[in-house]
Amino acid sequence: MDLYAQLMETKAYLQSKLALKPRVAAVLGSGLGFVAKRLTEVTEVPYEDIPHFKVSAVPGHAGKLVVGKLGEVPVMVFCGRVHLYEGYSAVGVSYPVRAAVALGAEVVILTNAAGTVWPHWSAGDIMIMKDHINFQGTNALIGLDDDRLGERFLDMTDIYDAALRGVLKSFAMARGIDLREGVYCAFLGSSYETKAEVRMARTLGGDALGMSTVQEAITARQGGARVLGLSIITNLGSGVSGTPLSHGEVKEAANKVGGKFIDLLTGVIPELLD
Ligand code: HPA
Repeated sequence: MDLYAQLMETKAYLQSKLALKPRVAAVLGSGLGFVAKRLTEVTEVPYEDIPHFKVSAVPGHAGKLVVGKLGEVPVMVFCGRVHLYEGYSAVGVSYPVRAAVALGAEVVILTNAAGTVWPHWSAGDIMIMKDHINFQGTNALIGLDDDRLGERFLDMTDIYDAALRGVLKSFAMARGIDLREGVYCAFLGSSYETKAEVRMARTLGGDALGMSTVQEAITARQGGARVLGLSIITNLGSGVSGTPLSHGEVKEAANKVGGKFIDLLTGVIPELLD
């Protein structure tokens, strides 16, 4: 079955389950799922029930879609994502975003946990993605030759919408929340970067280091949605601090930033729509 036909099945299934038509979609990375707790009029759909969704093989990490309202805005929140390093294709990892856009999402918010190339940045910093460098060696549009999915040779100027970044910056400034802004470098993983790779990323204009998000951003853009990307800085990259990285440290740092991040995200969402 081709991707478009799959997408139509996924859309029909979700429309049959959901009372709301979501206008904003958010993909929440590791440890950030708690944002969904702020929604009202909630419907939850486990990923394994949704036709053509990929489910993470890690026990307890299957993921779920939570749809509800933030203020008056209907929102869909993807709690958990699958990654290229789990063996899925770029088309596969970005499928939930494609489904969100097919359902009518106008704004797609992508979040992730990331390392940084800068010694003066700290775990707990929040970075607005102003651009990305895709070092993953693959692309979400590979193999897709179907006008119904959108443009094949997709323009990537302003992939992360300048107006949305502006709204977020004003919102944060008014509340005294410091934000950083920078370029997210996506690696394949699941090993962290070498010291030389971190140096390369810094030399080439990168600020943050991660293993997700860029394929979803490309897909959202292809569907015509506006994209906002946010990185939670969880650690200094390899060689930037003297200590080796661990997944435990990354998860712990993502959890710690919780309160600030949830206030920022849930507060700004109602202001993102035209
Ligand atoms: N590198 C890549 N991905 C990550 C990192 C990192 O340092 N921290 C969290 N995700």
